[in-house]
Amino acid sequence: PIPVIIDCDTGVDDALALLFAVRHPGIDLRAVTCVAGNTDVDGVVRNTLTVLEQAGAPGVPVARGAERPLIETARSAPVHGHDGMGDLGLPAPTRRPVDVDAVTLLRREILASPRPVTLVPTAPLTNIALLLRTHPEVTRNIERIVFMGGAVATGNATPVAEFNVWHDPEAAAVLLTAGVPITMYGLDVFMRVVVPGSDVSRLRASADPGTRLGGELLAHRGPGSAEDPAGGLGDAGALCAVVDPAGLTTEPLPVEVSLAPGLTRGQTVVDRRPRLGKSEIHGDSGRPLPVDVALDIDEERYVKLWLSAVEGPAR
Ligand code: BDR
Ligand code: CA
Repeated sequence: PIPVIIDCDTGVDDALALLFAVRHPGIDLRAVTCVAGNTDVDGVVRNTLTVLEQAGAPGVPVARGAERPLIETARSAPVHGHDGMGDLGLPAPTRRPVDVDAVTLLRREILASPRPVTLVPTAPLTNIALLLRTHPEVTRNIERIVFMGGAVATGNATPVAEFNVWHDPEAAAVLLTAGVPITMYGLDVFMRVVVPGSDVSRLRASADPGTRLGGELLAHRGPGSAEDPAGGLGDAGALCAVVDPAGLTTEPLPVEVSLAPGLTRGQTVVDRRPRLGKSEIHGDSGRPLPVDVALDIDEERYVKLWLSAVEGPAR
C-alpha cells in the first residue's frame, strides 16, 4: 500500500476522504494532522478523531496543528454547520490527539516511513508551509503532494479564489515553490464527482457505522434533495487520485498564487498560454515551477472507487 498522510480541516468532505483512506486496501494511512479551516482547530481535531473511530481506525495518530493562517487573523465562522461537520449529532471522540503538534508529527512520520510518503492536504496549507520551512529535509522522503485547492477557472470563497488557498494564500505560495512533485486537485474537477442519490440512500441504510456515516455526510453535502440525496465527494476525490491517478487528466503548468490584497487575493493563476518563445513572454514574474494541474476527471470511475472502498467487499 501507498504510505499516505492527510492534513485536513474536517469538514464534511474531509471526513469522506478519511473514510476512503481508512478503508481502501491500497492506502496505508500513517497519520492525520489538523488545521483551522472549515472550523477552529479544536473542532477539527474532535471531528477527525470521531470519524476515524466510526470508520474503524481508532489507532491512527492525529495531531493538532495551526490555529490560524500564517499572516491573517483566525476566521471564526464554521463553514459546514456549527460543528464544521454538518451538525449530524456525532458522538464525542473517546481519545485525544497525540501530545506533539502537527508539524512535529508530520516530520516524524515522513522521515520514519520505509517508503516515500504521499502527502494529501485537503485544507488550508498552513501546517504544510510550516513543515516545509522548518524541516526542509522532509522533502527527501515525500513522493508527491496531492492537494485539494485552487481553481483554474471559477473560485468559491471569492469569484476567483478557492477556499483552501484563499484562507492562507502565503502558505499555498510556500507549497507551490517547495520543489516537490505536486498535483493540484482544484475546484474544476472537485465539483464534478457526485455520488447518485440511490447510492447515498443505500449507504444510509447500512448496518456499518462508517458506511452509514458516509451516506449521512453525502446527503448533507448536496447538491441533492430529500427525494434524491445525491452528494459530492469533494476532498475525497483527491484521495481517489492517489490510488487511481489514471482517472485524472493533468498537465504540468506554471501556477502562482495572487498575494495582493483585494479582489484577486488567493487566486491560483494557472498559465495555460501555449509555450511562447522567452522573448515573447511579457510581464512574467519569474519562472514558476510547473504543477500537475488536474484539468479533467473520470467522475464515474472515482464514484465507483470510493463506494467500493467505503462499502467494502460485502456489497
Ligand atoms: C474546500 O473547502 C472546504 O470547505 C472543503 O472541505 C474543501 O477542502 C473546497 O473549496
Ligand atoms: Ca477540506
